[in-house]
Amino acid sequence: MKGTFQAVQITDRVYWVGAIDWNLREFHGYATPRGTTYNAFLVLADKVTLIDTVKAPFFDEMLGRIASVIAPSDIAYVVSNHSEMDHSGSLPRLIEAANPEDVFASAQGVKALEAHFHTDGSVRAVKDGERVSLGDVELTFIETRMLHWPDSMFTLMADEGVLFSQDAFGMHLASSELFADRLDQSLLEFEAGKYYANILMPLSNLVKKLLGKLAGALGDVKMILPDHGPIWREDVSWIVDRYAKWAERKPTKKALVVYDTMWESTDMMARAIADGLMAGGAKPTLMRAARAHRSDIATELLDAGALIVGSPTVNNTIFPGMADVMTYVKGLRPQNLIGTAFGSYGWSGEAVRQLTDMLAEMKVDVVGDGVKCQYVPDGHALAACRSLGIHIAERLDTICGNRPQ
Ligand code: FEO
Repeated sequence: MKGTFQAVQITDRVYWVGAIDWNLREFHGYATPRGTTYNAFLVLADKVTLIDTVKAPFFDEMLGRIASVIAPSDIAYVVSNHSEMDHSGSLPRLIEAANPEDVFASAQGVKALEAHFHTDGSVRAVKDGERVSLGDVELTFIETRMLHWPDSMFTLMADEGVLFSQDAFGMHLASSELFADRLDQSLLEFEAGKYYANILMPLSNLVKKLLGKLAGALGDVKMILPDHGPIWREDVSWIVDRYAKWAERKPTKKALVVYDTMWESTDMMARAIADGLMAGGAKPTLMRAARAHRSDIATELLDAGALIVGSPTVNNTIFPGMADVMTYVKGLRPQNLIGTAFGSYGWSGEAVRQLTDMLAEMKVDVVGDGVKCQYVPDGHALAACRSLGIHIAERLDTICGNRPQ
């Protein structure tokens, strides 16, 4: 691969040596229609250091990019910020090719790498705040435990204001542009928000704590280099501020209506609820589970104040598409939501109760008993749906007040 793939210079001493996965469409349940990147970074110092690696099938691409700058055997240190295999998958082959003096990971990272690759003590554990000298520059390790794995850590090159942040501040976006300032801001907002919603939303309290702990250090950071997507260099506060906002999980007047339908009756009910929401001043977004990916539904939930869920009853239970969405969203532990349920049924009609119970299990503040109707809703049933929408909108109004939305 030598000569095929080239490194991209980021700073005087940092090079991007990662890989672009243009064709990835699914990442453990998360739809990635724009592909992704696996970013790895080479730090040229007295002790040449590689920060993270790439998913195993892209090893040759990474090695080729490294070889465009230095001989891989010149790598003295490797840092594994995160042991999930999209970043550690090439580590065993890299160790074989480069034979580094040391490989560093957090204590939990050492355990995870041993469990994945049976590294048998060849990885050295570093502590939160520990520093390692590369000769002419220094690295500081910052534990970010459970963000989003137990092993996760950041590596800070404080002298140069460069933060290697592994998954944090990243996004699944394959692009020929390596820098965020060369990409459309609405695209960045969407993909970074989708990444936060699907990976970090359940950990929002930890995100808040970490941002508090790093407040001083982040003020001096000029560049954030995540393991996925573009590099933040011109205004790192743009993405840090969004993380602070998303971690707050403040409700808005947006009401997400997620439902599925058999003979369009539950769809009619959803539309009547949406009309009531609009009449009451809320902002509904309707998503049919069979037509939307669960990870896009989770993304819409990131700034919602209400989650309203609907399903017909089939074989005494909810539709399978709704079961998928409800299971996924429950795992993301959304906060500060109100919600209710609705649906059409033929004879037994368990779905609304089951959805209501699921909302309660998610700690959603359930409003009323929802609305159910037999077979096809008539004017009376649709009026009840519209009233439910108005009622939810009024509750959102009380919760959000005049706060800007
Ligand atoms: Fe990009 Fe948690 O791996």
